[in-house]
Amino acid sequence: MSLRTIIFASCVLLGTAMVFGQEQTPTKEPTPAKTTLAGTWYAQFETPFGMQTYQLQFTPEGDAAAKATAHVEAEGEKRDVEFTEVKITDDTISFAEVRQFDQRELRIEYSGKLKGNDLVLSRMFGNRNGQEVVATRQVPKRQPTTEVAPLVEVKIDHLLKDAGKDFFLIGMAGDLPARYSAEELALAAEHFAAITPENCMKPERLHPQENQWQFERADALVEWARQNQMTIHGHTLVWHAQTPGWFFEGDDKEVIKQRMKEHIHTLVGRYKGQLQSWDVVNEAIDDRGGPQAAKTENLRNSKWLQALGPEFLTLAFQYAHEADPTAVLYYNDYNIESGSKHESSMVLLRRLLADGAPIHAVGIQGHWRSGSVPFKEIEKAITDYASLGLKVSITELDVTIRGASGGQFGGGFNRRGFRSATPPSLEDLKQQADDYAQLFAIFKKHQDVIERVTFWGLNDRRTWRWGQHPLLFDAGNHPKPAYVAIVDELENRDSSKATEPPQQIKIEDGGQGPFSAIATEDASLAGITIYRPQDLSPFGREAKLPILLWGNGACANTTEEHKNFLSEIASQGYIVLGIGPLDQLTDRNEASRQRTQAKQLLTALDWIIAENEKADSTYAGKINTTKVAAMGMSCGGLQAIEISSDPRITTTIVCNSGILANPSQIPAMPSLQKEDLKKFHRPVLYIMGGPSDIAYNNAMDDFARVDHVPIVMTNLDVGHGGTYRQPHGGEYSRVALAWLDWQLKGKQAASKMFLGEDSELKQHDRWSIEVKNFDSP
Ligand code: XIL
Repeated sequence: MSLRTIIFASCVLLGTAMVFGQEQTPTKEPTPAKTTLAGTWYAQFETPFGMQTYQLQFTPEGDAAAKATAHVEAEGEKRDVEFTEVKITDDTISFAEVRQFDQRELRIEYSGKLKGNDLVLSRMFGNRNGQEVVATRQVPKRQPTTEVAPLVEVKIDHLLKDAGKDFFLIGMAGDLPARYSAEELALAAEHFAAITPENCMKPERLHPQENQWQFERADALVEWARQNQMTIHGHTLVWHAQTPGWFFEGDDKEVIKQRMKEHIHTLVGRYKGQLQSWDVVNEAIDDRGGPQAAKTENLRNSKWLQALGPEFLTLAFQYAHEADPTAVLYYNDYNIESGSKHESSMVLLRRLLADGAPIHAVGIQGHWRSGSVPFKEIEKAITDYASLGLKVSITELDVTIRGASGGQFGGGFNRRGFRSATPPSLEDLKQQADDYAQLFAIFKKHQDVIERVTFWGLNDRRTWRWGQHPLLFDAGNHPKPAYVAIVDELENRDSSKATEPPQQIKIEDGGQGPFSAIATEDASLAGITIYRPQDLSPFGREAKLPILLWGNGACANTTEEHKNFLSEIASQGYIVLGIGPLDQLTDRNEASRQRTQAKQLLTALDWIIAENEKADSTYAGKINTTKVAAMGMSCGGLQAIEISSDPRITTTIVCNSGILANPSQIPAMPSLQKEDLKKFHRPVLYIMGGPSDIAYNNAMDDFARVDHVPIVMTNLDVGHGGTYRQPHGGEYSRVALAWLDWQLKGKQAASKMFLGEDSELKQHDRWSIEVKNFDSP
């Protein structure tokens, strides 16, 4: 290949018009490659199997000596690649990677073009799937898909497979267990009752040569399904795709028939009694229809048809039935619910039945697209097939959020033919949830006909329509709104609530801490506002959120007055459970004056401890349940004291409050007596507003009386109102956070705010501080 053709080829790949500039100077010697592309680049390719990070190295030493290598790190593997066919020009590069997969050689072609400081790099597998990324000079910050926080937090309280069990089996496709993470395997086993091998029982995988069978993956799947009590649905015996050419070699019809028979007998026979059903013939009807074709079977011009004629279907069913007389046998296809393909499917099925083919069921694949699911046609198709005495399953359900739907190939490419992983919007997720719910309403209505509904994949990472977000779990295994919408539909519950995400309100700018905070709520914890980092993905095994229980001034039923302060604390990595429903933050009304009780704080504590234990909770494993502060302002400060005897409380913070000399006559106020100071069993901090604070005397008296635990009294001369309403909660936040960091996060440095002759508050000209009962250092 000359340099000109090379440039041309790479420009075609890049879809640019740059070639014309080259065309005009055909006689000029090609300019030697500059070194702009030389050196190290980093590129990350998101794939269905996780992120692949490439550290690329280019050495553009003239065409012949040009070199490209890479160190690749991907989930579960590291490898070094020496690329072939490396071509480097001024600002473009192309090269190829050849990999072995099973028995097959996979060619990946790369092409890149400099754009400013970046290199726009695309890669193509064969001539179909492409992917485009921007390679940079810096080491990328790896963001594994599994850790991405979901857009909507969805809580599962009923399992899908349980919700469906009175109606039909609910299954998924995948070649489990190999290459699936422990988390994914657990997810699959928990939520699905049936499994379909996505690829490992297809002829090309299982039977690559006439005299060669590879049963390892298929056997492993059958064993895994057995261990997890899942039924198995075989897929697929006779198909035009993913079938090796040797089946059709030579022109002898009898030989080809014999090969089909051998294949089916060996495979179906091997798993006899273990697989509940088989997709015997897959996708035999042509896509191109029309009024004339609708009256006929309109069979696809496949090699099977060419070799054996229309009889190939009948034969396949007979062979399968011979090999396992108890297996339910399916004809499986896509788009057969619609238009002329549906008509053709009816013609074909009638013929098979008339010929005595042992066919029992029809598989409607169900590769649909959100916003344009043909509900009416689907329902009609189900009843049409039932009228022939056949059962129906939805065998490959996925409803994409964007991108082409249906067909033999997953679609999901952008204009230039590259996959993109643009995340779905909230509206997308809602539309998808509604579509799924409507589908399941139809399936439930026809439960007497429908045997099984199988999703084609486990999650939005393990899907052939990757980038189109078609399934019930996102790429990080979080359930999507569609999951709950389906369960609610099956259980006749109002799904509108479930699909509506819990509201998230950002206070000010989300706080000054490293974790932008939100105020939110949870349907299972009534009357409590939760302040927490919006993105909980950084929390888990090591960093966990300590708990802050909060009671409001006037024991009000809203945290509205303290929202800046509480949001600021949350942004530093705390979870705050404050008394009051979330909506009172935005629409404060009568309800905010409703009586509240200290025990609400303990209910909230019980709740968050339980959530931390629940595997499917938003908060699972993210909470430090052994570090709990009881805190409140004024009347809420008394609520904090009231619960301080609970052994789970690690520290108490009383703000602008103290126990009254005589129990209060105000009904809402906890009627505490000085005796109740005994409830403290761990260190205590008072944050007060100086002598003008109406609670000042009560607080100072408390301080004088407490001799059994370490206690700190701080005063800032701002009066009873404190600084809660100031931006980020003002000075009070700084002091409260130092205490919390010290007491709940064990940060000794933070104690400098309080301890010692040169403590920060002692030095401060507006704060005053007194400290008691600490062991002297
Ligand atoms: C798809 C698999 O999901 C992909 O992993 C594979 O590369 C191609 O096949 N109809 C079918 C399925 O019957 O076998 C196809 O599965 C999807 C379309």
